[in-house]
Amino acid sequence: MIQPIIIDTDPGVDDAMAIAFALGHPEIELAGITTVFGNVSVNQATSNALALLESFGAPQVPVAKGAAVPLIQPPFPHPDFVHGKDGLGNIDIQPSGGRAPVSESAAQFIVDKANEYGGELTLVAIGPLTNVALALRLDPELPKKLKQLVIMGGAVDEPGNVSPVAEANFLSDPHSADIVMGSGANVVVVGLDVTHKVILTDTSLRHLRDNGGEVGKLLWDSSRFYVNYYSNIGAASGQDEPGCCMHDAAAVAYVVAPELFDVICGPARVVPEGIGAGQLTINRKGYTYLLKYWENRSPVTVCMEADDAKLIELFLQTICDAS
Ligand code: RIB
Ligand code: CA
Repeated sequence: MIQPIIIDTDPGVDDAMAIAFALGHPEIELAGITTVFGNVSVNQATSNALALLESFGAPQVPVAKGAAVPLIQPPFPHPDFVHGKDGLGNIDIQPSGGRAPVSESAAQFIVDKANEYGGELTLVAIGPLTNVALALRLDPELPKKLKQLVIMGGAVDEPGNVSPVAEANFLSDPHSADIVMGSGANVVVVGLDVTHKVILTDTSLRHLRDNGGEVGKLLWDSSRFYVNYYSNIGAASGQDEPGCCMHDAAAVAYVVAPELFDVICGPARVVPEGIGAGQLTINRKGYTYLLKYWENRSPVTVCMEADDAKLIELFLQTICDAS
């Protein structure tokens, strides 16, 4: 069954992998891309989205430009030491200029597409959640209109990647993340508890380069800077060769292969400010606590384990089969 999705993204080396995966998977219809600040500025994210769609042979997919800054807190500097100054490993691809983003804002585009697809649309958010929070503000009925809201972000038992408790997308806009966790949408979080174990090694990336056509070559080229970052911090540890975490494509994988994930459910909060800002906290046991912050909130689903070998195989096979 074909699943229409929108990807809300801050491309981003691993975002590019997620976009290529969505375009290549036979059960996914990429109905649009909405862009947000995060790995890069929203202007750079929008240029990257247009350029990636052209490079991936999908120039017809609409792109809607979104938020430039978080909902409340001031923005952090863009992590150019992770994704490069251009956000794509400094491969410096540019859109041809033949196409511009649509005139609607990302939030408006999400609402319009949710109405158009009548409950069948899945929103896959792989950057800060500002656009999603703005879309919820625009249309409070949005949670009922989305089939699923699959989010790459957060960390429950796993240490964070931008603080001991926070993952980058959630810390980039913790207020929006907390709004989304309490939205009542069918929220599925694919966070670091899963993605820190989904490692694309250079052997896998070379396989893409040699068997994935032009898409595979671009993903290899774009991954060099990103793999170098991970090698320097040893984050892709447990491997006997360089590699990188396949964060964002794991969220797309959930859309087509949820059976590869083990989950917990419960009402969740994201700490908005202070030393714990960005921390995802979930009442996974249904306990009645002294502090009532988790009460009167719809449960969310959080992925805690996954079959990482099968996720990698699904990603590689999809890209290569589509080339
Ligand atoms: O923490 C990983 C997430 O932050 C990924 O979405 C990556 O692209 C960055 O946005
Ligand atoms: Ca991202």
